[in-house]
Amino acid sequence: MTDARIVDRLRRLVDPAHVLVDRDLRAGFERDWTGRYSGTCAAVVRPGTTAEVASVLATCDEYGVEVIPQAGNTGLVGGGVPRPTTHGARPVIVLSLRRLDRVTDIDSAAMQLTAGAGTTIASWQAAARSVGLDTPVDFAARQSATIGGAIATNAGGSRVLRFGTMRQQVVGIEAVLADGRIVGSMTGLPKETVGLHWPSVLAGSEGTLAVVTAARLRMVPRFTHVATAMVSMATLDGAVDLAAELRRQLGSLDALEIIEPEAIRLVAGHLAATVPVEVVDRGTVLLIECADHVDPTPALLDVLAGTAGMTDSAVAVDPPRRAHLVQFRDRITEAINAVALGTPPYKLDVAVPIGAVPELLDVARSAAASDGARLIPFGHLAEGNLHLNYLGADDADAIADMVLPAVAEMGGTISAEHGVGIAKARWLHLVRSDDDLATQRAIKHALDPNEILNPGVLAATDQVP
Ligand code: MLT
Ligand code: ZN
Repeated sequence: MTDARIVDRLRRLVDPAHVLVDRDLRAGFERDWTGRYSGTCAAVVRPGTTAEVASVLATCDEYGVEVIPQAGNTGLVGGGVPRPTTHGARPVIVLSLRRLDRVTDIDSAAMQLTAGAGTTIASWQAAARSVGLDTPVDFAARQSATIGGAIATNAGGSRVLRFGTMRQQVVGIEAVLADGRIVGSMTGLPKETVGLHWPSVLAGSEGTLAVVTAARLRMVPRFTHVATAMVSMATLDGAVDLAAELRRQLGSLDALEIIEPEAIRLVAGHLAATVPVEVVDRGTVLLIECADHVDPTPALLDVLAGTAGMTDSAVAVDPPRRAHLVQFRDRITEAINAVALGTPPYKLDVAVPIGAVPELLDVARSAAASDGARLIPFGHLAEGNLHLNYLGADDADAIADMVLPAVAEMGGTISAEHGVGIAKARWLHLVRSDDDLATQRAIKHALDPNEILNPGVLAATDQVP
């Protein structure tokens, strides 16, 4: 079927104003925000209800139209935009879930709410805060990233050490299968054992098994007192020891982020600000947050006072001074994009057992040196999760071929929180057996026999651009 006939059919299912074919209107949906991944589609379809999503998918399934689900388009692994090699073989549409952005049924007794897939993390947060609660998940892209995308990629962020990843927050889900059937339940009962748990099946499936249209999500207490510390450590080993001590002693620990010297200097330049602590070469900087119903500062200061190898620290409790410290973590990605103008950064998002973080950084730096790339490392120390950003890399695949097998050797993973997308699919075999991957493909085939949902994602093909 031609693109024109597909568009014609889709315009009978969804308000024609929300079936975008004009090149300028499609452009923002066809390219990821780093500029690394892009392709073209026949149309961007923006359904306004679950029923419309179901009818669009049923039609696409019938006519063999490939569907790229997308919402906030903040993904970093090329999983939410069309890819050049798929277009041409079969028609492709981007299915934008952004219009499904309503928060309904805020139940503060159950500490749950219901939200459409296109609801941003920031809106989830605002809704939770309106009833004195908070979200268990938070990350820098909160203004654009959506709960549907966060579920699809099992997003993490800074509060994972306390509350877990997105997967743990989904107590109910509504999703549409490739043929238009709707699965899931939104009761959100904390105890219910009646067979397969769809949130578990779909979290991390990256739009390859079904399209999430709504979810029932957990909320957590909103803490009245927050203390933020920036700490400079002489060595990485010392930082790992401090992380263990903080986790052992402080029930209020809410975030434990690592900012390597290259990253803190870069972001300071971007902000035109002085780094609040003295940075030691070969050392590292930690951004620590504690939150509680009583002031967590004395307990935090107690732990820091007994810390060997701490060379400098800055502690803040009032919101403006806390925000000043936090921006040195939250705005690193923005700083990277600003210096990478024209050449998108190459991003690895790996995790290793926390004790192996120093070894991981050695490997990551060797890979940068052999390519001639500039490495900006930062991440979430408690999970041993580092974001390795390579600027000006000549051969990104060669860097991945150096770093990812070493990560697997350390007992780590090739993707901690950004997902696999098309970017990391060819290295999946490093962390999953052939039998495991074959079984995953069989599940995909059972739910999406015509392979219309996000082709190439999570599948080891040669489609990496
Ligand atoms: C972060 O932790 O800031 C995000 O994962 C984004 C990134 O890695 O660029
Ligand atoms: Zn992150």
